[in-house]
Amino acid sequence: MLATSQPLNERIDGLIAAMSRAQNGERTDDKRNPRVPPWLTRRFFRHIVSQLYHGERASHAVCTRLIREIEDPRAQRFLEKQVADEHRHAALYRDYLDDLGGVSAIDPGLARAQDAIAAWTGTWHGPMVAVITVLETEAVRTLQSASRLFACPRLAAINRGVVRDEARHLAFGRLFLREHVRTIDATERRAIYRWVQDRWRGCNANRRDIIGLYVMVRRPLFAKRWARQNRDLIRLGLIGTDEIARLDP
Ligand SMILES: [Fe+2]
Ligand SMILES: [Fe+2]
Repeated sequence: MLATSQPLNERIDGLIAAMSRAQNGERTDDKRNPRVPPWLTRRFFRHIVSQLYHGERASHAVCTRLIREIEDPRAQRFLEKQVADEHRHAALYRDYLDDLGGVSAIDPGLARAQDAIAAWTGTWHGPMVAVITVLETEAVRTLQSASRLFACPRLAAINRGVVRDEARHLAFGRLFLREHVRTIDATERRAIYRWVQDRWRGCNANRRDIIGLYVMVRRPLFAKRWARQNRDLIRLGLIGTDEIARLDP
């Protein structure tokens, strides 16, 4: 059983209560017609929105696994709520995509990240850092930085709800990791950092993928995005600035 401090337990209880209230007041009956941005084909737009759907499914899978691996009943309660959120997010995107012509295939970059997370054999901290860094923070930053792309009123309403819920998932993940990451040994901490960095790059690296192509076009933006992730990981206590300087490039 993990030992979690009382102040953190109280914060987690507060987050669980807020999630219960949000889940009770949820609306899922918006059937307005999707609006494709005028500069994109329907097929291409469908592919982009499909990645939001696949990302939700990937978060769902990781959280389901974390419930089994984290021996802390309060964290498990939070993660069960989170799984319900991810399930609802995926269903909302799927309904929207059904009205747009159907879900299209997962982008290879995202599929690689998902497979690598599933194949992780170390402690639960690795998948938890990956879900925060590779999946959730990037999804939220994409939703927040691409308001023209996601201007369709029905999609914008879905995204607002998703961003609000993800803020709680991220708050929990960061608080919980900051408390527990110091209990793992330095070699494993550094291994998780390298592994997550490779997953993040692997997700964005192939120019034949839609995500990779988007990254190539907006390269300066993505250099800043990794720098931001790096600062987040230092703040989590996963890695120190001095350790990064000593790691191989
Ligand atoms: Fe989600
Ligand atoms: Fe989430």
